Amino acid sequence: MSFDAERLAQPAIRALRAYDPGHDLPTLRTRFGAVLAELGSNENPSGPSPKALAAAREALADSHRYPDPRCGRLRDVLSNHHGVSPDQLVFGNGSHELLMQLAQAFAGPDAAVMHSQYGFAVFAIAAAASGAPTICVPALPREHPSAPWGHDLDAMAAALRDDMRLVYLANPNNPTGTWFSPDALHAFLKKVPDDTLVVVDEAYGEFMQVAGHASALSLMAAHPNLVVTRTFSKAYALAGMRVGYLVAHPSVAAVLERLRESFNLGLATQAAAVAALADSVYLHLTLTRNAEERAWLAAELAERGHRTLPSLTNFLLLDTGEDAAPLERHLFDRGVIVRPMGGYGLPQTVRISVGSRAENRRLLEALP
Ligand SMILES: Cc1ncc(COP(=O)(O)O)c(C=O)c1O
Repeated sequence: MSFDAERLAQPAIRALRAYDPGHDLPTLRTRFGAVLAELGSNENPSGPSPKALAAAREALADSHRYPDPRCGRLRDVLSNHHGVSPDQLVFGNGSHELLMQLAQAFAGPDAAVMHSQYGFAVFAIAAAASGAPTICVPALPREHPSAPWGHDLDAMAAALRDDMRLVYLANPNNPTGTWFSPDALHAFLKKVPDDTLVVVDEAYGEFMQVAGHASALSLMAAHPNLVVTRTFSKAYALAGMRVGYLVAHPSVAAVLERLRESFNLGLATQAAAVAALADSVYLHLTLTRNAEERAWLAAELAERGHRTLPSLTNFLLLDTGEDAAPLERHLFDRGVIVRPMGGYGLPQTVRISVGSRAENRRLLEALP
């Protein structure tokens, strides 16, 4: 009999599937060359701040040394930036890692997890990997005026139960692009008992440049069970560097520190993040560019009869109203990569990242 470790794996792990990257991008880059439009992963086409790149290059000279396991410099600048204490921060090799660690630490067969239908995919994966019972609360209806397919916070509050230890929310959410207000979050938090952690994933938080919006960080002092995750992958355009962080009560951070691999952030990564955070002028430029480009792309798509959902992020969810697989295939054959959403239970949609003007034009030209 041939050897197969599948049966040796833990039941919760056996139920998982390995990450599907969608496409083999290195091969596609060779096939399509410069005309490839990579609009599938919500990356930032502006690229990183030149100052971040320079800092990373400089740090590389010390590559024979291990990086600072405390991420001390990055910890200091972020604690200043957010007005939190350094021991409230935990760093991840991307925020994905932190979302997984939260479930590893706080969820399990006797500690349930809740997330919304169409919530970011990692929430369900993290819950499943921990073997936790998982409640997936139906999303708001497609017809909802401001948050079609968004999180239904009232229904989520009603679904809370005694064994619930972790609630995952994304604000704004990927792939729906929907968001909720600080007031709605506050009202929700008031209904959640202290022994249930509420994780608010703000991977796209910096893009929320609208009056009245505030990060969940503003509610941290009043709610010790609140955890906010953030990333340098999106607005700061450092997806390839892998740097995420969370802000939580020091006791939550202390638990997570036990799981963190000691050198999980490389030294170039730490240096790049510090410099990117300091370059607020560049951040502002890239946010403005994204907002303008998103508005232009949404309008051009609408002119061609394609409906997109409201978005303040760097992506648009296009609702075709029918099976979107042929559209995705059609674009793919022309070197335009968008993300099909069948895996999310939204097979009638594709998610399109806001690219550079040249990439967005290629998408529009490639449409059937
Ligand atoms: C909502 C959301 N959260 C978290 C992540 C993870 O980002 P990273 O691991 O690059 O920090 C993503 C990535 O696309 C995302 O869309």
